[in-house]
Amino acid sequence: MKTIVHVIGARPNYMKIAPLMDALARVPGIRQRLVNTGQHYDEAMSTGFIRDLQLPIPDRDLGVGSASHAVQTARVMIGFETVCLEERPDLVVVVGDVNSTMAATLVAAKLLIPVAHVEAGLRSFDRTMPEEVNRIVTDRLADLLLTPSADADDNLRAEGVPPEKIHRVGNIMIDTLMRHLPYATLDRVAGRVAVEKGRYAVLTLHRPSNVDDAETFQRIMTAVATIARDLPVVFAVHPRTRERMQTFGFDPLPPGLLLTEPLGYVDFLSLTSNARLILTDSGGLQEESTALGIPCLTLRENTERPITVTHGTNRVVGTDPAVILEGYAAAVSGANGANRPPLWDGRTAERIAVVLRRALSVP
Ligand code: UD1
Repeated sequence: MKTIVHVIGARPNYMKIAPLMDALARVPGIRQRLVNTGQHYDEAMSTGFIRDLQLPIPDRDLGVGSASHAVQTARVMIGFETVCLEERPDLVVVVGDVNSTMAATLVAAKLLIPVAHVEAGLRSFDRTMPEEVNRIVTDRLADLLLTPSADADDNLRAEGVPPEKIHRVGNIMIDTLMRHLPYATLDRVAGRVAVEKGRYAVLTLHRPSNVDDAETFQRIMTAVATIARDLPVVFAVHPRTRERMQTFGFDPLPPGLLLTEPLGYVDFLSLTSNARLILTDSGGLQEESTALGIPCLTLRENTERPITVTHGTNRVVGTDPAVILEGYAAAVSGANGANRPPLWDGRTAERIAVVLRRALSVP
């Protein structure tokens, strides 16, 4: 029997682990354990997702919570080292680019436990983003690099990663999206946000570079206010962002801007899949909008997911109001000829399961 320990910790992790645990549950000879670092701890950011996505109840909860990057990373490392010493995993699976991902990878690497990284190879080439540091360190140490797209393979090869470590498996978030799309209908959220199908935009913002700086945040909100006069904008507010809005005193809200708490997975998919437009600084939403064929404006200067621009519906517009509004005009006027990138087909978890079985010599 081989033991795989999966690590989750923050909101964008749950939808990446759920289909993989499901695919591996059918494999005799593999025992799975789920560790939740507790980087996110609000019901809306963590347990709600675990429930929505029918993940098993985590076997371990490290309860690390919010702190500075060093403290949060260190707390995950201390807790996860104990887990590894007790569980003696044959493989640790980490996903994405959050602090928990990098911290768990460091621990496993030092205990000589092989690591598989799902969503390997993405690069923004912007080291001011904490996630970029997490991506580089995680990929440097991981043994199996499971990539979503060809650009990720290119990045890894350019960094000197041996080709035999790289496995292009596709985008696992799209597995979860396709599985839940049939249940994503606007009546689920009707009591909380009153919108009409195809006649509203969805906005999310949480990057420190956007919301920790009052001036940048204000610039974005100026553009959003203009858009909201034309098309209602539903703003699902991350806890960090809500805190900053209170500190900066952003009330009263402009007409047409509708605020909600962070929503559960299927409720949020109900909103995005029926929207006219998505405005975001999230990485995952750039991919989901591409998979859904809904235009997306990325409120950042760069993206680690260029395939959403070359193949998909994404435009990287930054934070200058004039550029955001140009992007808006283009996004709502043009015909949408977007394609789903290759291997974003809902079968990524199956492909990863094949790679992991081979690596663990499980028939
Ligand atoms: C983290 C990830 C980011 C990911 C995002 C998704 C890192 C470096 N960042 O950023 O890549 O896109 O999650 O949401 O790992 N807070 C709460 N309740 C929670 C979680 C956070 O109130 O459940 C508040 C706290 O004030 C906290 C702040 O949000 O200090 C930031 O949380 P943190 O986990 O440090 O980073 P995120 O900004 O959420």
